[in-house]
Amino acid sequence: MPTPTKSAPFFVRKAKRGKIQVFRLRNSQMIDLRSDTVTKPTPEMRAAMAAAEVGDDVYGEDPTVNRLQERAAEVFEKEAALFVASGTMGNQIAVKVHTRPGDEVIIEARTHIYNYELGMAGILSGVTFRTIRSEAASGHLTWKEIAAACRSGDDHSAPTGLICLENTHNFGGGSVMNAEQCRDICENAAKLGVSVHIDGARIFNAAVAMDTGVAELTRYADSVQLCLSKGLGAPVGSVLVGSRDFINEAHLWRKRLGGGMRQAGIIAAAGLLALEDSPERLHEDHAKAKELAFGLASLPGIAIDPKSVMTNIVIFDVAETGKSPAQICDGLKRHGVLASGFDTSIRMVTHRDIGQNDVGVAVNMMKQVLV
Ligand SMILES: Cc1ncc(COP(=O)(O)O)c(C=O)c1O
Repeated sequence: MPTPTKSAPFFVRKAKRGKIQVFRLRNSQMIDLRSDTVTKPTPEMRAAMAAAEVGDDVYGEDPTVNRLQERAAEVFEKEAALFVASGTMGNQIAVKVHTRPGDEVIIEARTHIYNYELGMAGILSGVTFRTIRSEAASGHLTWKEIAAACRSGDDHSAPTGLICLENTHNFGGGSVMNAEQCRDICENAAKLGVSVHIDGARIFNAAVAMDTGVAELTRYADSVQLCLSKGLGAPVGSVLVGSRDFINEAHLWRKRLGGGMRQAGIIAAAGLLALEDSPERLHEDHAKAKELAFGLASLPGIAIDPKSVMTNIVIFDVAETGKSPAQICDGLKRHGVLASGFDTSIRMVTHRDIGQNDVGVAVNMMKQVLV
C-alpha cells in the first residue's frame, strides 16, 4: 500500500480489493508559502496562553501585557511600548501621533503602509503620501532620495510631517536596511524636525540577517512597529515602541480605535514567548528561503538572483515562463503548494511551519506546473 505523500494535494491509497481511494488534503496539510502570518501557535504558546495571569488592560492592570510592553521597550532600548491588535493598527497610530492633518508623509512606493492599509492614513490622520520609488531593487530609500522630496510647507505645498521606512522591506524581497543607512536618514530628518517611523513588521528578521540586535537597527528612529504574529509565530498582536510621550499619546489612540482589549494577557502571553524565544530560530527560515530561491532560479523562465535573498521572503518574476502568476499559483495549489501572485511576480515566504523537505517539494511542484 503506497504511503500517503505530502508531495500532492491528495492522499492516494489502495483500499480493500485493490480499490484506489483518494483523499483531498486539508488546508493545514498544504505547504503554505503565502505568508509568515499563517503559522499556528506552538504548544508552548498555547500552554502560556492557558496559564496567563490577566487583568483589565484598559485599567493598565494586565500583568502579562505590562510585562510584554516592558520587555519590548527593553529589547528596543526605547522608553516605552504599547501592545496593539495588529501591525496595521500600530503603523496607523504612529502616523496619527507623529503628524498633523494636511502634512505629507514620505514613503517608498511599494511599502505596506502606503499600499495595503486601505487608505487609513488619509481617513484617520488627514495626511497625504509623497511616494518615492526607490532606485534600489531592495526598496530602501537613501537620505538623498528622501531629501529631494522633503518640503517645509509654504503657500503652495504641504509640509513633510513624517518619513516612514519598512525593514525588512516586504516587496523589496525581504531586504534589510542596515543600521548606518537608517541612522543617516534619521539624523538628517531630525535636523529638519521631521520624525521617522519604522514599519518593523519583520525587524527581527532584519536583525538576524545582519547578526545584530533590533536596537542597533532602530536606535535613531522615533518609533517602531514590530509584529509578533509574523515570523515570530504568535497568533495575534504587534507592539509599538518609542518615547514615553509618544506611547502615552498612542495609548489614547489605541482606545479611540477600539483597541482596548481588557484581559489581553491571554494573547500577550504568546507574544512574550514570540519576543523572547522566536528570534533565535529565524535563521532557519532564512536558510529555507535561500534554498528555495536557488531551487527556483534553476527552473526555466524564473527570474531571481538567489544571492539577493537575505531573510524569509522570496519574490521572483515569472514573465518569461509564458504563464501568468495566477495560472502558476492555481497550478501550485492543485499540487498542494500555496503562494501569492502579483504583477508579473510570485511571492513565497518561509516560516516555522515549513519543514525542511517542504522546500524541495515546492520547487519540484513548480517544475511540474511550468511544463
Ligand atoms: C511590512 C508589513 N507591515 C505591516 C503589516 C500589517 O500587519 P497586520 O496584518 O498585523 O495588520 C504587514 C502584514 O503583512 C506587513 O507585511
